[in-house]
Amino acid sequence: MQTEIINKLYWTGDLTDEELKQLIENRTEEDFALLSQKARSRCDEEYGNKVYMRGLIEFSSYCKNDCLYCGLRRSNRNAERYRLSKEDILNCCENGYRLGFRTFVLQGGEDAFYSDDLFCEIIEGIKKKFPDTAVTLSLGERSRESFKGLFDAGADRYLLRHETADSEHYGRLHPKELTLEHRMECLKTLKEIGYQTGCGFMVGSPYQTVDCIVKDLRFIKEFQPQMVGIGPFIPHKDTPFKEEKAGTLELTLFLLSVIRLLLPKVLLPATTALGTIDPTGREKGIKAGANVVMPNLSPVGVRKKYSLYDNKICTGEEAAECVECLRRRMQSAGGELVVDRGDSRIAVNKVL
Ligand code: 5AD
Ligand code: FES
Repeated sequence: MQTEIINKLYWTGDLTDEELKQLIENRTEEDFALLSQKARSRCDEEYGNKVYMRGLIEFSSYCKNDCLYCGLRRSNRNAERYRLSKEDILNCCENGYRLGFRTFVLQGGEDAFYSDDLFCEIIEGIKKKFPDTAVTLSLGERSRESFKGLFDAGADRYLLRHETADSEHYGRLHPKELTLEHRMECLKTLKEIGYQTGCGFMVGSPYQTVDCIVKDLRFIKEFQPQMVGIGPFIPHKDTPFKEEKAGTLELTLFLLSVIRLLLPKVLLPATTALGTIDPTGREKGIKAGANVVMPNLSPVGVRKKYSLYDNKICTGEEAAECVECLRRRMQSAGGELVVDRGDSRIAVNKVL
């Protein structure tokens, strides 16, 4: 059993690349029992048993990109496309605010229909109506000017998963117009502008090796993001990866615990993808050291159309039902769902 390495990770918050590799390659159930107990207690020290809720608004299923893993890729002719208007989005927020949400996450494909001006209007509209909320954007790669304009309009946070920190692996998951170099540049820019920034990756994506994961963890440790999103890769039937195997619950939980110990203060969601590969995946995620859940606030009519991967959960439920369901689920995992902006406790080092 790898007690020594796990204790080192717990006490120092870091390991060498070789130790990380060894920890992952030789992991056993007993290792996970110890690791997850340490990760959970670290999370309790930082945030108690609070679980922060973020309302996800999936505003557009159009995307100009062609990522090989994603159901929204432009070459997927079977994807149903939709766009929410500013009014639709504000209605989602109103519904969410009533349900206790104090963070709204606007996520969509890279869709040029939404100009910087339109996004600014949407952000300003949300902030004017609900001044005590945080706005998180998840809009993909944009220019520095655009990121800055949206920040100045009031956006607080930005999620942009790096997907993999290995450039060769990145190239096998994406068409050639997308590069890891540019992705990393965007992440750096977001941080410099002053966003609370989130990166992350899929667990078990095709061609991922333990070395790739070690690079992901090293990048995360060095970048010091305020948020990290990881979830299992799940194949989508209309993508080139339709025959690929899904990532496992076991490795995802293990990595959630490692990330909690590498970055004790990080905001770490138990993702919908985790709830999709296992009926109690999100509860298990919380027990492994996660402290965020992101229920869907999108209108029920469009939910099924935002299809990143197959069998996504919560596509038929109203937001209110998901909140109640999650409250019970979090309780069963020892967590308490809270009404709070839930800002990161990692300082934002604004450079500009
Ligand atoms: N399985 C799991 N996660 C996926 N994502 C996209 N497609 C899939 C898939 N097939 C994740 C990506 C992206 C986020 C919005 O969803 O990591 O950054
Ligand atoms: Fe959506 Fe349980 S969280 S139905």
